[in-house]
Amino acid sequence: MKIMIVGLGYVGLVTGVCFAKWGHQVIGVDIDKEKLDKLNKKKSHIYEPGVEDLLVEHYNRWSFHNNIIDGLKENPEVIFICVGTPSDEKGNHYLFYVFESAREIAENVKKDNLIVISKSTVPAGTGDEIKRALSTFNPEIKFYTGSNPETLREGSAVFDFNNPDRLIFGADEEVVENIFLKIYAPLIDSPNPAPYIMTSIRNAEMIKEISNFFLALRISATNFVAQICEKNNADVEEVMAGVGMDKRIGPHFLKAGLGFGGSCFPKDIRSLLRKSEKKYRVPAEIIRSVLEINQKQRELFVEKIKTTLWKRVKNKKIAVWGLSFKPNTDDVREAPSLDIVPALLKEGAEIFVYDPVAVYKFKKELKKIVKLDHPSTVFCDDKYEALKNADLLLILTEWSDFQEVDFGKIKALMKVPRIIDGRNIFDPKTIRNKGIEYICMGRP
Ligand code: UGA
Repeated sequence: MKIMIVGLGYVGLVTGVCFAKWGHQVIGVDIDKEKLDKLNKKKSHIYEPGVEDLLVEHYNRWSFHNNIIDGLKENPEVIFICVGTPSDEKGNHYLFYVFESAREIAENVKKDNLIVISKSTVPAGTGDEIKRALSTFNPEIKFYTGSNPETLREGSAVFDFNNPDRLIFGADEEVVENIFLKIYAPLIDSPNPAPYIMTSIRNAEMIKEISNFFLALRISATNFVAQICEKNNADVEEVMAGVGMDKRIGPHFLKAGLGFGGSCFPKDIRSLLRKSEKKYRVPAEIIRSVLEINQKQRELFVEKIKTTLWKRVKNKKIAVWGLSFKPNTDDVREAPSLDIVPALLKEGAEIFVYDPVAVYKFKKELKKIVKLDHPSTVFCDDKYEALKNADLLLILTEWSDFQEVDFGKIKALMKVPRIIDGRNIFDPKTIRNKGIEYICMGRP
């Protein structure tokens, strides 16, 4: 099929490269010329395993345009809106780009019966507004609309796209139902078919919204247990392993630590909170708690650092491993590192950071937060380089590379061999037996 994708960020680009892999013709549209220049050179502008390989392999099925008008000239059968929906200052999803895309499509389309699917993360009810925008800006044309929320995790998005737990299809008309089945045929008509739910647009939007809420709820519930475990001399890892063995609960998303960050959970949960309280007038203490516990984990971590250093953070040399909000991505949006590093710089610490891919984005964000003239932050090319003479090592992201360490080297390089691990990546007994002081989250 000929599919136009509006917005080539994480969602749009991953969707595009996977559609191209399945044999669809992809018309990619993005207003950012820099992104397009890179893509035209078969280079991905995001760090996401597998994306660039697929782009190179199926480049002949792509065309790129920097506006919707030119994209429409290629006569797409279906359009996927994948533009960003950042938070506005009040915590709502900022939907301007979604509606602007709908307007531009409506005003420039020449063909009847165009199908427009929303894949951007949007609050429930947005589908109705997209439908209204399309018919308002072009009453002459019959539009069909649908919702196909993405459930991709950054760092494993290509895998997730091809191996979904379920596909979510929101369609209020049969035409759209059939289009979903046709586009996703490679996953549905396979010997091992992907499960899917065909439902209304409104329900599809809510499935996505509530899935993210439930996942964040599990993380905050686990971190609440971690806080109790610390007071109770119990081990959150063992406790949640036991809890997760109950089939009704299940083992996933029960990892304690620095909590959730990224471009999705914090933004989506804040938006759900605001809507529940302001629009629906439904008490939403449960959502507020999810956010508060998440923030508290970062504060408790900084407290742990201060306690460990007997409140003398000034001039201490602190090594930091991991800046991205999770492994296998260079994304630092709402990452714990952006709370923790500035807090330590404010106390006068000297910070030596290492991350395999997120340094560039972190530097950019840090500059916006830390206004010091000479912030003492050194960016290292190697994880061991950051440890030289360090008083303390902090682990903020669980990159697999950090789990394969030479404890002897850590001991030899650090002034004081001491780790505060925000992601519980080591076995406390093993590491302490090596003579390293080890402080972790929710474990004795
Ligand atoms: C999340 C969802 O997992 C996707 O299904 C969804 O499509 C996406 O948001 C979205 O709305 O676009 P993502 O933010 O990429 O994906 O990453 P996750 O793997 O879900 O992790 C989110 C955060 O939770 C990370 O900061 C991670 O460190 C943290 N986390 C995760 C925990 O603290 N504990 C856990 O047990 C699991």
